[in-house]
Amino acid sequence: MSQHNIKLYYKNVMADIVGDENGITTADFKKLAEKTTPIIKQINDERKAGKTPYRDLPFNDDTVKEIKKLAGQLKDSCENLVVLGIGGSALGNIALQTALNPYMYNIDSAQRSGPRLFVFDNIDPAQLSSFLDWVADKLDKTIINVISKSGRTAETASQFLIIRKLILDKLGPDGFKNHVVAITDKNQGTLRQIANDADLKTLEVPDGVGGRFSVLSPVGLFSAAMCGIDIEALLEGARDMDKRVSDEDFYKNPAAINAAVNYHFYNNGKKNSVIMPYSYHLKDLADWFRQLWAESLGKTKDLDGNDVYIGPTPIKALGATDQHSQVQLYREGPNDKLFTFLEVKDFGKTMPIGPAPESAPELGYLASSDLTSLINCEKKATEFALLKDKRPCLTVLFDKVTPYTIGQFICLFEVTTSLAGALFNINTYDQPAVELGKEATFALMGRDGFEDLAKQIHPFTNVDGDFLV
Ligand code: PA5
Repeated sequence: MSQHNIKLYYKNVMADIVGDENGITTADFKKLAEKTTPIIKQINDERKAGKTPYRDLPFNDDTVKEIKKLAGQLKDSCENLVVLGIGGSALGNIALQTALNPYMYNIDSAQRSGPRLFVFDNIDPAQLSSFLDWVADKLDKTIINVISKSGRTAETASQFLIIRKLILDKLGPDGFKNHVVAITDKNQGTLRQIANDADLKTLEVPDGVGGRFSVLSPVGLFSAAMCGIDIEALLEGARDMDKRVSDEDFYKNPAAINAAVNYHFYNNGKKNSVIMPYSYHLKDLADWFRQLWAESLGKTKDLDGNDVYIGPTPIKALGATDQHSQVQLYREGPNDKLFTFLEVKDFGKTMPIGPAPESAPELGYLASSDLTSLINCEKKATEFALLKDKRPCLTVLFDKVTPYTIGQFICLFEVTTSLAGALFNINTYDQPAVELGKEATFALMGRDGFEDLAKQIHPFTNVDGDFLV
């Protein structure tokens, strides 16, 4: 077991700290424990019954071997890795890269232990065109990693078709075969068909694992392994957290307490959940969490078919940056938010602050310190200020940001989401509202079979000049 760890600190959501009106009383907490304890068992049973295969991803040694073998074959000749994907097929990749590789990874070869990484999770033509201008004469040293579970997502498919043409024009069919790795469903979908026809290298999105729960599958692990991230340590962290979040003793289970606290506040006037890392490296995990929470918990109906319109709104903020942007609202605006800080003890570097010039003795208090102390004091200062205004705060404490602790974090928040979904009695794993948007795009782009939907859309989207000022 690694010496580094993460822990959930929840004292500052309690009524003793923020008052009875805004906090959780001892009696509330007891009730939450009683409600959540059978839910822990329920999701453990669902896991045993094979209903939540994402929970077993960290235990899949064969996948790790397969990914490492493929990365080993490609890495030496690859200077640029380009991931094409969106949503659950990109956010985890971005989060792992930001968390675990140096800030200057793409720019400074001395700080890099793999290819440069570019993740395209959008379809802005100017952005892609600028990139293609740069990469066009480097395609022989570039691997394209296209990721789509369904294989039909318009954003990913369109990017892929653009790059496919470029590679075919420059490198021919063999080049296409050798420079593309497709990650998709084992048997089904358009991308699987293309991959089979062109004899591309492929990895699989495991059955029953939704995009937002797939970061510990080849979806997230392949690009991480290519970029020198220790994926075995990542999975070890997830496995160790899996034991903690499977514990049927509510008081020992950080996911159960996290889910119960979020559930309590949602039902008590705090429908927004702000996640605020005090670490640049953790900032994209907030994006990853935002999708996980929003797509899993935003649901119209409960499992009994009642209209419930459930959904805590996840909001991402970054400390210390957003102290100068959001904290005014967070302290003086409506008391409708639960805050979750991510705090890091050891940043690996302390960054001592230079001496103050004689002309500015008032900066002397900084001069004897370092950025680790400053950023962590700022977190505590913001938390104190919020608590003074009776805003409840959780903290996830990282000893250090390492592959092991990131694996722990991923598992903690995935299982928290499953538990929260079960507490809300909703289907955590579908996303019907996302599907309609995808289909409406097909209709607007003229795809066969979507003509009726196109007719329904046009009255809403055709611009009415009477309302244009
Ligand atoms: O979590 C999800 O299911 C979504 O965000 C999908 O990951 C996203 O829509 C991309 O889908 P696909 O991987 O099928 O292209």
